Amino acid sequence: MSSSKFDIVVYGATGFTGQLIAEYLAANYKGDASLKWAMAGRSKDKLASVRDAIGAPADTPLIVADASDPASLKAMVDQTKSVISTVGPGVTGHHVGERVAALLAGGGYAEQVAVPAGQLLPVPTGLSLQEAAALPEVACTVWSNVVDLARLRKGETLLVHGGGSGIGTFAIQLGKALGATVVTTARAAKHEGLTGLGADLVVDYTTDDFVAATKDFTGGRGADVVLDIVGAKYLQRNVEVLAPDGRLAIIGFQGGRTAELDLGLLMARRGRISATGLRARGLADKARVVAGVRREVWPLVEAGAIKPIVHDTLPLAAAQAAHELVESSEHLGKVLLLP
Ligand SMILES: NC(=O)c1ccc[n+]([C@@H]2O[C@H](COP(=O)([O-])OP(=O)(O)OC[C@H]3O[C@@H](n4cnc5c(N)ncnc54)[C@H](OP(=O)(O)O)[C@@H]3O)[C@@H](O)[C@H]2O)c1
Repeated sequence: MSSSKFDIVVYGATGFTGQLIAEYLAANYKGDASLKWAMAGRSKDKLASVRDAIGAPADTPLIVADASDPASLKAMVDQTKSVISTVGPGVTGHHVGERVAALLAGGGYAEQVAVPAGQLLPVPTGLSLQEAAALPEVACTVWSNVVDLARLRKGETLLVHGGGSGIGTFAIQLGKALGATVVTTARAAKHEGLTGLGADLVVDYTTDDFVAATKDFTGGRGADVVLDIVGAKYLQRNVEVLAPDGRLAIIGFQGGRTAELDLGLLMARRGRISATGLRARGLADKARVVAGVRREVWPLVEAGAIKPIVHDTLPLAAAQAAHELVESSEHLGKVLLLP
């Protein structure tokens, strides 16, 4: 176990301003409970020597804010909310103070959480911590199904059910970034937003038949890969919509778990069906998925080809309202809870 002696350096903070900052930090800081900080002179350039001046070890991470800029100060405090506060024994390659996003096994409604090191991801360059928090769950779910399992290739057609969901908004963007044609299903109010994310065709599942619409759009071929969150209610039609050698990846059962399927149809398509959940995967498998996401998805995020789609952010205390919002299905993308 290790812990940095100084977590924060505020430069340009002296006298009364420094006192105000001290009070602000004491009230808002959510990281290591034994917070210590130092007020460093007025020049940012002097920060390198600040470590020496305050006796902090050379590897102490310094989070910098300009005391004359309230936005910068707030951003600094926000940053401290998703840093590593403790590194477990035997863990290498990570340090206290490192900014990270993580795939959790559960228990995310918390101010502090223990995470296996293999499930950590760096915050992608150019993204805030809040934006990064919207990514690991959807990125790991979509990559593990659409890429790792179903092997979506450039030029193929991907059908994403529930395009307006957190999962769906990510899958549409990943499909486009990989060079696929993307068809998606959603209620009408979300169509404009999903076209904006790159969807080539959006089908209103409440009024139109997605099988006919997808076949029409693809000249009768159908979808090479289907990412499904509906389950039983769509099983037969998901197989009908498959192109030859198509892959159906089921990740949700919103429309039930038990269904009847014409296996002759599946055989005629030479189709494959999988049903996987992230949560049930073992630690090593989760680490493998996270490594795949870091290798293949993070560069697309850093290049701006995939953006976190955040509908709203609410404080942790408003978790019930957040659930009600998601249940209303009026959201597009993720709803984030902030500690
Ligand atoms: N297996 C895994 O590893 C894994 C991991 C994460 C999530 N999931 C599953 O993935 C699904 C999406 O999760 P989320 O949190 O991103 O969901 P979410 O934001 O709560 O959205 C649910 C979505 O379901 C859509 N929907 C409902 N009925 C539909 C239908 N008949 N046809 C097409 N779309 C329909 C809604 O679309 P409209 O609003 O347009 O009606 C809405 O966009 C959930 O079922 C969840 O359990 C699975």
